[in-house]
Amino acid sequence: MLFQLSEEQLMIQQAARDFAQNELKPGVIERDEHQKFPAEQVKKLGELGFLGMMVSEKYSGSGMDAISYVLVMEELSKIDASASVVVSVNNSLVCYGLETYGSEFQKEKYLKPLASGEKIGAFCLSEPEAGSDATSQQTTAEDKGDYYLLNGTKNWITNGGTASTYLVIAQTNKALKHKGINAFIVEKGMEGFTVGPKENKLGIRGSDTHSLMFNDVKVPKENRIGEDGFGFKFAMKTLEGGRIGIAAQALGIASGAYELALSYAKQRKSFGKSIAEHQAIAFKLADMATSIEAARMLVYKAAWLKDRGQSYTLAGSMAKLYASKVAMDVTVEAVQIHGGYGFVKEYHVERLMRDAKITQIYEGTSEIQKMVISREIIR
Ligand code: CAA
Ligand code: FAD
Repeated sequence: MLFQLSEEQLMIQQAARDFAQNELKPGVIERDEHQKFPAEQVKKLGELGFLGMMVSEKYSGSGMDAISYVLVMEELSKIDASASVVVSVNNSLVCYGLETYGSEFQKEKYLKPLASGEKIGAFCLSEPEAGSDATSQQTTAEDKGDYYLLNGTKNWITNGGTASTYLVIAQTNKALKHKGINAFIVEKGMEGFTVGPKENKLGIRGSDTHSLMFNDVKVPKENRIGEDGFGFKFAMKTLEGGRIGIAAQALGIASGAYELALSYAKQRKSFGKSIAEHQAIAFKLADMATSIEAARMLVYKAAWLKDRGQSYTLAGSMAKLYASKVAMDVTVEAVQIHGGYGFVKEYHVERLMRDAKITQIYEGTSEIQKMVISREIIR
């Protein structure tokens, strides 16, 4: 594995760092407080080519590699994980799924505006009764000849209110269990499709999480992705890459909190010296730096394997499991290092601590990552 980033990767990393400082940082506290979606910022992320980073130029993407993608995710997440989750979902769940498994018609019609950032996408697998146990889909897609009739409810859908294009997983043939599941492209505005109210969340409060209701929605047959019955494999393969994106998000949240804690520890004085000079605090910083570096290696390795066309199932789950734990541990310590100041919003670390928690839950909980990892190493 290469440890030296290329000139191009360094430039992309710097562009993301600048964007996070100049465009995301101002207003991040207010957006969190008022649960405001970063609409203007997302539009600019699209203009920078960050919403279709790994999509080929043929389909209006930026044609970048997965390493560049994780660098961008890390930099954006240091400041605003509510904005970075939009980047993650649009890139690694929606655009990747369409480019890899979609038909030419689907790529022309749906992928191009998603990759250019003109439109935003959502990935809809979870349901009230099917979260970790994703094969027990209750949403049905009845085959009616030239269209499918979609009925059911999805919940916790990121970009649920903002998206125009939704990749929806549904059960077509219950008798075939997971082999009877399909994935469909559903457009906002299709008759019978409604969006529920925005969820009021602990963290990533600026991100747009909604339930979605489908009531006799007619989905044209050409909007089914892949062969009949491919939907569950589609979701699993797509999530493998998504987990690398969320691992990079967790890494960014941890790095952001660490950078703030280090800087604060050097300037805050107690008992006649900086708190960084007290060994109890210095050792916390040492542990934080070490675990972040280990997480970074796992994240880069997963992205590197993806770029080389090698299997990244195991590496992606390991990266997500570990980086999300590091995000939680490091943000808790960052608040501790800030003392009382860490407990108030203007110092940012309390938000990072609240944002860190979701990385252990979505795109497969930590327990689910352990299932994937253990199955991979035992089989
Ligand atoms: N690639 C290809 N196929 C896969 C696969 C993979 N990575 N993982 C499983 N499959 C296939 C299996 O081979 C099997 O197919 P066959 O019978 O043809 O062999 C089929 O899928 C069923 O597999 P399992 O028996 O392993 O299924 P399971 O019921 O034990 O569940 C699981 C497996 C990994 C736990 C899966 O249910 C899972 O990933 N759950 C978590 C769901 C999740 O991550 N949701 C995230 C929603 S999106 C999101 O959260 C976005 C966001 O926040 C921003
Ligand atoms: P459950 O599956 O009910 O799990 C509850 C607990 O039991 C967890 O700790 C879990 O790890 C544990 N558990 C369950 N089964 C096992 C087992 N076999 N062994 C050990 N432990 C187990 N989903 C989407 O499809 N698209 C999105 O865009 C999306 N965005 C989200 C955004 C937010 C803010 C949130 C909160 C969720 C989002 N999700 C999305 C849903 C997310 O993927 C699920 O919440 C997650 O997969 C867990 O499912 P669940 O909430 O039903 O928990």
